[in-house]
Amino acid sequence: MTAHGAAAPATERPHGAQHSAAQFAAVYGAAPTGIWAAPGRVNLIGEHTDYNDGFVMPLALPHTTLAAASPRTDGVLRLHSGGADGGIVELRLDELRPTPMDTAARSASARGGGGRRAGGWAAYPAGVVWAMREAGLPVGGADLHYDSTVPTGAGLSSSAALEVATAFALNDLYGLGQEPQRLAQLAQRAENAFVGVPCGIMDQTAAACCTGGHALFLDTRDLTRRQIPFDLAGEGLRLLVVDTRVKHELGDGAYAERRAGCERGARALGVRALREVPYAHLDEALAGLAGEPVVQALVRHIVTENHRVEEVIACLDAGRTRAIGPLLTAGHASLRDDFKISCRELDLAVDTALTAGALGARMTGGGFGGSAIVLVEETVAAAVGAAVTEAFAAAGHAAPRIFEAVAGAGAHRVA
Ligand code: GLA
Repeated sequence: MTAHGAAAPATERPHGAQHSAAQFAAVYGAAPTGIWAAPGRVNLIGEHTDYNDGFVMPLALPHTTLAAASPRTDGVLRLHSGGADGGIVELRLDELRPTPMDTAARSASARGGGGRRAGGWAAYPAGVVWAMREAGLPVGGADLHYDSTVPTGAGLSSSAALEVATAFALNDLYGLGQEPQRLAQLAQRAENAFVGVPCGIMDQTAAACCTGGHALFLDTRDLTRRQIPFDLAGEGLRLLVVDTRVKHELGDGAYAERRAGCERGARALGVRALREVPYAHLDEALAGLAGEPVVQALVRHIVTENHRVEEVIACLDAGRTRAIGPLLTAGHASLRDDFKISCRELDLAVDTALTAGALGARMTGGGFGGSAIVLVEETVAAAVGAAVTEAFAAAGHAAPRIFEAVAGAGAHRVA
């Protein structure tokens, strides 16, 4: 999901603890008590499975959102972002109420910025404070300043980074003692109930629980996690991220529609969630949905995608990293043809990368724009990136932003 206006690309603004502390001091007139970082993510495999109790496998990006923060004793929450216009957003804790806005209102509010409403980007951190208090945690006021290098609208979870950086900051400022996974759940609660986006638990868990050099396997039903070593450079491989610059917006109903379709499928099949449909019984399940082709296709994606996650893990466990390429590509076909959430630019990025010699490629994240990932031998990484850039130019699309994903750390205190 995207926290509009809260972030700008790494290359466009200075970033780092020192810069963040200086900005905080310039805005609030004193040094911050501390600074916390939370990363964006790409998802290696397991797309739209998280709200079906299924499997996901994200890795944290080196791009982070920094939250510089100090506590306040007067029940006031002040929020300021280096990436958004509009100055300080000031809110009273006892007046925080979930007021989910529709997409248009959220975007308009982000453009207008500021004011006293927890609209636009400020709804995400305000929602975290609200969710913590709703859970009975003794969170008081705070001054917060944000700086981010996580691209927004790129399917790289800038909003989860914003939420989780806030949750970690408040957890430490108020000595709450909550575990990272619990903080991720509170962040998801903020996004679901306060902001009004029905996302699953993947992005917030990635931001909170990833570790450097690893992909994170998460079973979203019981939240068991496994850190899976993912050192591509050591194997002569690269994972490229192609940000198509097509802004994705998941609050616009299409995400919720897919989610509702999956839930309809589960009900029709008599299971609590589609994760319970075994891959070996997929044909039977599909036969049981005859007459509902749209739901059938959604179910086929979820069941095959969960299976692909298991296959990817088996490959990685066996040291057969290159073998995950075709699984990624099959995942893209399934998202494109069955889940129907790809777009021209994502398909062009994937097809061009494969033609240029990539081992595998797929869209990543919620879809409808955003980013693709490309697994490639390091010897041809530059050529594959260039081919994608050229194909975009030839098709008249805006130039994509291409960078390498190296599995980074989850949220932590930096100062
Ligand atoms: C978005 C949501 C996640 C997940 C992905 C799709 O990123 O926030 O919960 O559903 O889409 O896998």
